[in-house]
Amino acid sequence: MLYQIRHFSASLLLMATFSFLGCDSSKEPKITSNEYKTWASYLGDSGRSHYSTLSQITKENVKNLKVAWSYKSPDFGQMQMNPIVVDSMLYGVTAAMRIVALHAATGEEIWQFGDSVKVWHSTSRGVSYWERGSDKRILVTRGPDLFALNALTGKPISSFGNNGKIDMRTGMPKSAANKFVISNTPGTIYKDLIVMPLRLSEGADAAPGDVMAFNVITGELAWVFHTIPHPGEKGYETWMDSTAYKSPVVGAANNWAGMAVDEETGVIYIPTGSAAPDFYGGDRLGSNLYANSLVALDANTGAYLWHFQFTHHDIWDKDLPAPPNLLTVKRYGKKIAAVAQVTKQGYVYVFDRKTGEPLFNIEEVPMPSSTLEGEEAWVTQPIPVKPAPFARQSQDLTEADISPYAENMEELFEIFRASDKRQYAPPNTTPTFLLPGYDGAAEWGGAATDPDDGIIYVNSNEMAWNLQVKIDSGILEATPIGAASYQKYCVSCHQADRKGLTQSGYPSLIDLQLRKDKKEVATIISEGKGMMTGFPQIDKNEMTSLLQFLFEEEAKPTLTQEFNSNSKKTVYKHTGYKKFLDSNGLPGISPPWGTLHAIDLNSGDYLWSIPFGNTLELGEKGIGTGTENYGGPVVTENGLLFIGATRDGYFRVFDKHTGEILWEFKLPAAAFATPAMYEVNGKQYIAIACGGEKLGTEKGNQIIAFSLQKK
Ligand code: HEC
Repeated sequence: MLYQIRHFSASLLLMATFSFLGCDSSKEPKITSNEYKTWASYLGDSGRSHYSTLSQITKENVKNLKVAWSYKSPDFGQMQMNPIVVDSMLYGVTAAMRIVALHAATGEEIWQFGDSVKVWHSTSRGVSYWERGSDKRILVTRGPDLFALNALTGKPISSFGNNGKIDMRTGMPKSAANKFVISNTPGTIYKDLIVMPLRLSEGADAAPGDVMAFNVITGELAWVFHTIPHPGEKGYETWMDSTAYKSPVVGAANNWAGMAVDEETGVIYIPTGSAAPDFYGGDRLGSNLYANSLVALDANTGAYLWHFQFTHHDIWDKDLPAPPNLLTVKRYGKKIAAVAQVTKQGYVYVFDRKTGEPLFNIEEVPMPSSTLEGEEAWVTQPIPVKPAPFARQSQDLTEADISPYAENMEELFEIFRASDKRQYAPPNTTPTFLLPGYDGAAEWGGAATDPDDGIIYVNSNEMAWNLQVKIDSGILEATPIGAASYQKYCVSCHQADRKGLTQSGYPSLIDLQLRKDKKEVATIISEGKGMMTGFPQIDKNEMTSLLQFLFEEEAKPTLTQEFNSNSKKTVYKHTGYKKFLDSNGLPGISPPWGTLHAIDLNSGDYLWSIPFGNTLELGEKGIGTGTENYGGPVVTENGLLFIGATRDGYFRVFDKHTGEILWEFKLPAAAFATPAMYEVNGKQYIAIACGGEKLGTEKGNQIIAFSLQKK
């Protein structure tokens, strides 16, 4: 069943237009036709195309797909990784961050890195591969460390860094030494360099989001690009506080979702996230370049070429969630090397890859101002005239958009009426209705492309959230240190009563002592777990007190002075990531709750849009309500689109020309991951990791490869 895509309100005021910033790259992007037969890099190739020309699996025979092999890892839980395949080896990362090398045709384990090492609670989207002659390396992170492993044996390469690894923080200012710095997306390889995405805190203790390139052979730092510019650097003037770059409060603006590189021109395209703290910008007034931007740099040197900022002075956590796609589009009969960026807001922006010039006009549209003390929301935000957004927008909703499945409609109406639904309504002490929400529209799964045809395929969430802040009144003297520390670092997610927001994925910490020991909890606190960032800055004494508080033990030491965040301004604290759900835990807005789209970026028009996934507990058959979904698609030249991602735990194949479903398979656990397509010994495979866990689904531990069964 196809549904009509709602068209974006045309009544926008036309304001300032995009000002072109110039570019000094002299190299002409070449319209190349890569072979797209291998999967040796994250999402298939360095243009992050999610694309394959392998053609044994066709529309006609796809119904004969069967499990070719399945690998069961020793640990269970969410796996976001996109496997890579080199020669006959498939490389992946398990839920507890074990790196595994499997035989790509049989799933037989060849080596494993990290089995005897401790279990990590972080997530990983995979590994990077580099080779020169017989020197073949896998590059992968764990915590702040970047490892170089021998691709054939899994052993660390001792000549790299410090006996096989480097601490990425060594490339950052000294102040980052005890901050949370990890990476959960594979680095981008260009020549002998690896450019690293970083995951940082999103609070008032974030490290700066420096983009760092390291030498793959030695581990030495090759270049750094400051996403929060230092004095004398371009963009420095966009921070009203001249010390923002070294502020103990302000940080991030990091790339976490990965990057794309044009290997012909040596230009790397880096999408960045918001500056921290996420939801209050009083300490970082200004437009905040290069946060929320697509930045084009010379991959050899890190030199700036051009940028575009998608959200000015972000106070909504509108990180760019996925690497851009490099593709070719046709304009006035001419082929243009382009770069497309999907966003959490549900817009896709298309630029000339060389100049940064937008290929569809982008208008600076006036947006609401903030009434919070010390806050200045930016007066406009850039909205492309085309394509229309691929997700509903809060300002277009009416009461008819409340879920017909909800048993507590009256309650939902009340919340809905009381919320500010304007586009880019700034955070306030009263609720703001966030649709698309914190996790998009587009999320880290990103979009697939037909790189030579200018078509992109993108899956999207339609989950509304409530955003609210409150005045942070500080923590008073005589509060036990453990309780104060909890209030400072943990309340926004686990809530003051420690009951969490379980329906939104933030667990209760009540009775923690019955489920976990102190050592385990201390590890989770310093290193993070899944969506939770770590707090390595909590020292031993504070940790002891915090654990006492969490384990409900008598607390002796109390604060002798008031203790607050480092902010100089009135600070507003985020009250937590709250989904807009009905009393049964289903989305409070009407379906579709997840969608899948094909958009022709030559014309900006939609080819098709369908609800994506189903809510099995509602008893609907087939493709019904759509579901929240994480993980991206893979498309083939011969017309197929492969995707897992939905909460219902299916792996599906669609006709890429029509959106018609051709095949589906119920996985042992939901696959919040992007599949990999490859060929070994003349046979075509598609492999996907299914670890479940997210969105309250069962945990799993398998990597499953499918191929055609001979009849
Ligand atoms: C940004 C939101 C966020 C903050 C801040 C945060 N947590 Fe978490 N925490 C989470 C999420 C999400 C999980 C679930 C992670 C998973 O299992 O994937 C979690 C899990 C945990 C767990 C494991 C619970 C279990 O039963 O498995 C503990 C313990 C915990 N957090 C303690 C803390 C403490 C203590 C703090 C403050 C120092 C803190 N968290 C700060 C989001 C957060």
